[in-house]
Amino acid sequence: MATLRAFFCAELDGGLRGELDRITTTLRQAPVKASWVKRENLHVTLKFLGEVADSLVPDLEEAARRALRESEIDSRIEWTLDLLGVFPSLERPRVVWVGSSEEPEALARLAARLEQALESLGFEPERRSGVAHITLGRVKERAPSPNVSELTRALKEHPEFRYEARVDGLTLMKSELTPQGSIYTPVFRLLFSSNSNLQG
Ligand code: 2AM
Repeated sequence: MATLRAFFCAELDGGLRGELDRITTTLRQAPVKASWVKRENLHVTLKFLGEVADSLVPDLEEAARRALRESEIDSRIEWTLDLLGVFPSLERPRVVWVGSSEEPEALARLAARLEQALESLGFEPERRSGVAHITLGRVKERAPSPNVSELTRALKEHPEFRYEARVDGLTLMKSELTPQGSIYTPVFRLLFSSNSNLQG
């Protein structure tokens, strides 16, 4: 059975990815072992699916259309990014991300509707909290370590920022893991602006 590794996400425009990449460039000066997300791969994950059968793609599209309809989003979502965050904590950073102090209600609603629509296809609901974020990097070294402390310092000292993100659609993304890193390819895209025309 042919399968693909896939996830639902919101893609980001090139200008914003450039801005976010500047934050990564600053942080990666800390000599900590980490994998930093390449500029072209920066995205907001809405739901990670894992390996799915190719034959399931039409059902995934139908579920995504339903989620969009039910969340009643028919224009782009404006999202102010002003937060440099860390999971699980600044002292023990594992995932470094950018998000917002105020997540737009529409984005949370879309993620929740998508979760519900996919549950009917047998996908387990996420147990971790679903705060929308853009992962910049994943730290491979564990604290306590001088390198991790340097990253913690760089995170604390990072200047404030405020970027305006415009989320205008939902993408099913195929992810191929290669020795050179992940390669993402859109499988289908649903634009919010065509939501009023979505059938079914
Ligand atoms: P994250 O940004 O919150 O880490 C593609 O791999 C995307 O799917 C990542 O951005 C990641 O979200 C998300 N994801 C969620 N669960 C995952 C898992 N178990 N394995 C890999 N990626 C996962």
